[in-house]
Amino acid sequence: MTSVLVYGAYGHTGRFVVAELEKRGYDVVLSGRNAAKLPGGRPASVDDSAALDRALDGVAAVINCAGPFAETALPVAEAAIRAGVPYVDVAAEIEANLDTLALTADSAVVPAMAFFGGLADLLATAAMGDWTAADEVHVAYGLSGWRPTEGTLAAGRVSRERRDGKRIRFAGGQLEYRDDALPTREWPFPEPLGPRPVFGEFSMADIVTIPRHLRVRDVVSYMTVDGAQGLAAAGERDAAETFVVDVVVRAGEDERRIVARGEDIYAVSAPLAVEAVDRILTGRAKVKGVAPAGEMFDAADFLRALAPHITIELAARPERVLRGSRRPRRAPGPCQGGGIPGWRNS
Ligand SMILES: NC(=O)c1ccc[n+]([C@@H]2O[C@H](COP(=O)([O-])OP(=O)(O)OC[C@H]3O[C@@H](n4cnc5c(N)ncnc54)[C@H](OP(=O)(O)O)[C@@H]3O)[C@@H](O)[C@H]2O)c1
Repeated sequence: MTSVLVYGAYGHTGRFVVAELEKRGYDVVLSGRNAAKLPGGRPASVDDSAALDRALDGVAAVINCAGPFAETALPVAEAAIRAGVPYVDVAAEIEANLDTLALTADSAVVPAMAFFGGLADLLATAAMGDWTAADEVHVAYGLSGWRPTEGTLAAGRVSRERRDGKRIRFAGGQLEYRDDALPTREWPFPEPLGPRPVFGEFSMADIVTIPRHLRVRDVVSYMTVDGAQGLAAAGERDAAETFVVDVVVRAGEDERRIVARGEDIYAVSAPLAVEAVDRILTGRAKVKGVAPAGEMFDAADFLRALAPHITIELAARPERVLRGSRRPRRAPGPCQGGGIPGWRNS
């Protein structure tokens, strides 16, 4: 049986990942820093590289679910690289994602392989399809609320400290730190959510994963005010949210739109991370070494495999959502014909 090590196995997300691996027939090796929470597992602290090497002995891949990733991503990824096995993490910390993407490896390394990061990268890549470049990628997160875990809150604190309280955006082909307030607008989510107030330029992993492999000038993430307020209010995670991830790409006058729906952003991160490992271990990665999801995998095929956890809808006749009626409507664009087989087209 193929063994996959889960680092941070007893955390909220780690437990979903362990269950998903077991469901898919993998032998799971539990790891993390606290031996008391790992009966029968292989504890290892991130500042003990020898213990990490021992923990990884004989495993075929590693999924890192222990955040803040500012502390765990590099040591665990480097241990996986030393062992010559694939590394996947669920980090949504821009600076940690950048550190991981800067590694060099012969084995596969995929950061941000989760709801925030990997999913939008796959969606944007699939929506662009045959395009070689886009002017804009917009990723709007329509969360019904957000009851963050302690790990998410800690990751947010660490990221804010790392960037000195600033926010970060990707505009004009580059990352830019800013200290002005987030812009707000209304985003026209598809029904049943409908138009909702959102914060724009909401610092999100998408601004480093997508431009890493797609030629694009601006990547803008949006978060429903409901979602952002839930994050700010914190409290116990006693309910799962429903989500709509609405991705619109624009190249010149052509717009394409793709929508993902589901519930529980933590639970769905498990099929995303496990599908990634499964594809790497079964020879279905497109590139070798370090790459985000959209570059590593056949995005459309990967998204189809996420059903029933996440349903994908390609807008066959997208309404123009970017800056209203700035451009005249044109005849059906290149993706408006048959759509992608296996997807429900609206
Ligand atoms: N990209 C996404 O969409 C996505 C989705 C889900 C989760 N995440 C991220 O994944 C991380 C975990 O989230 P969660 O919901 O599972 O939180 P959680 O339930 O609070 O679990 C956090 C886990 O990380 C471990 N950990 C923290 N710092 C560590 C360190 N320095 N060394 C070793 N282990 C450490 C904790 O171990 P101890 O109990 O020993 O402290 C615990 O196992 C967060 O950063 C979260 O933002 C991202």
